[in-house]
Amino acid sequence: MSFTIVEPVTSRLNRSELAVPCSRTELFEKAAKGSADVIFLDLEDAVAPDDKERARKNCVQALNDIDWRGKTISLRVNGLDTHWMYRDVVDVLEGAPGKLDLIMIPKAGTAADIYAVDMLVTQIEAATKVSKRIGFEMIIETALGMQNIDAIAGASKRNESLHFGVADYAASTKAKTVNIGGPHPQYGVLTDTDAEGKRTYFWGDVWHYAISRMVVAARAHGLRPIDGPFGDFSDAEGFRAQANRAAVLGCEGKWAIHPSQIALANEVFGPSTEEIAKAKRILDAMLAAQREGKGAVALDGKLIDNASIKQAEVLLNMAKRLGMAV
Ligand code: COA
Ligand code: MG
Repeated sequence: MSFTIVEPVTSRLNRSELAVPCSRTELFEKAAKGSADVIFLDLEDAVAPDDKERARKNCVQALNDIDWRGKTISLRVNGLDTHWMYRDVVDVLEGAPGKLDLIMIPKAGTAADIYAVDMLVTQIEAATKVSKRIGFEMIIETALGMQNIDAIAGASKRNESLHFGVADYAASTKAKTVNIGGPHPQYGVLTDTDAEGKRTYFWGDVWHYAISRMVVAARAHGLRPIDGPFGDFSDAEGFRAQANRAAVLGCEGKWAIHPSQIALANEVFGPSTEEIAKAKRILDAMLAAQREGKGAVALDGKLIDNASIKQAEVLLNMAKRLGMAV
C-alpha cells in the first residue's frame, strides 16, 4: 500500500439513483414509495426555464411534506453559469433545513466550481444552525470537467460521488451521436479477412474511456463512481447490459430516469447469491492457504491470492449492508 491512505467517504447505498423533475409534483410520492436507493430532485435540465421558480417551490414543499422513507435525497441545482443556481441552494436549504442529504452539481468544470458551492452551503448551514452536513455529487459531463476530474474529485471534504453524464458529455465533446447512453453502431472495429475471406464487425463501448477515467478519479479520492442515464427506458435488456459493464469497471450504481430501471439497477449493482457463495469459497480457501503459510493457491483451477480476499470482501460487505445472508 501507499503511505497515502485513501479515506472512504460517508457510506451510502447508491445502486440506483432516480431522477425526479421538480416540475412534476405527482412523481414525488411515487418516487418516495419506490425502491431507489437515492432520489435526485431535479431543478436543472428536466425543468423548462419558465418553470424554474415554481419547481424550486415544489421542491421545498416536497422536502418538508413527503415521507421519503429513509431514502437518500439529493438536489440537482442549476449550473454555476446560470442565474438560478444561487437561489436553488439558498431557497431550498433555508426553506427545508436539514432535509437534504446531498447536492448534485451539474456540469462540474473545475475545482473552483465545487469550492464556490461549498462556500455557499457552509454559510447557510452555519446561519440555519443545521448540524447535518450536506454531501456533494458531481456530474462529469463536459470536456472541461473530464480534463479536471482529479482536481474536482479532491475539491471538497463534502464530495461523495462522481457521475458520468453521458448526453451532455457527448454534446460537449461533439460526439456524433444523439443517443442517451448505450452503444453506437458506428463505434466498432472491422477485422481483416479470415481464411474464408470473411470479415467481422464488432461493436465497441464508446463510453469506456470516460467511465474508466471517472472510476479511477473517484476511487483515488474515496468517492463512489456512478454511471449516468440510459435514455431508452423501454429497453430493459439494453439497460442491464450497460449497467453490467459499468459494474464490472467499478461503478457502484446507475441512474434510473424511469421507475422501470430501478429494480434493474438494484439487481445489477447488488451481489447475487452465486457471487456471495463464490466470495465465501474464496475467503475460505485463502484462510486455509494462510494456515499453511501460502500466499497464493488454486481454486477451481484458477489462481487466487491476497487481492482475491479484498475483492471478495468488497462483495460480502455490500451483501451484509443489504441484509443478505452471508
Ligand atoms: N419518478 C417517479 N415516478 C415516475 C417517474 C419518475 N421519474 N417517471 C414516471 N413515473 C411514473 C409515472 O407517473 C407513471 O405512474 P402511474 O403508473 O401511476 O401513472 C409510471 O411511473 C409510468 O410512467 P410512464 O407513463 O411510462 O412515463 P411518463 O410518460 O409519465 O414519463 C419520462 C416518462 C421519461 C418523461 C419520466 O420518466 C421522467 O421525467 N423521467 C425523469 C427524466 C429526467 O429527470 N431526466 C433528467 C436526467 S437525465
Ligand atoms: Mg446533463
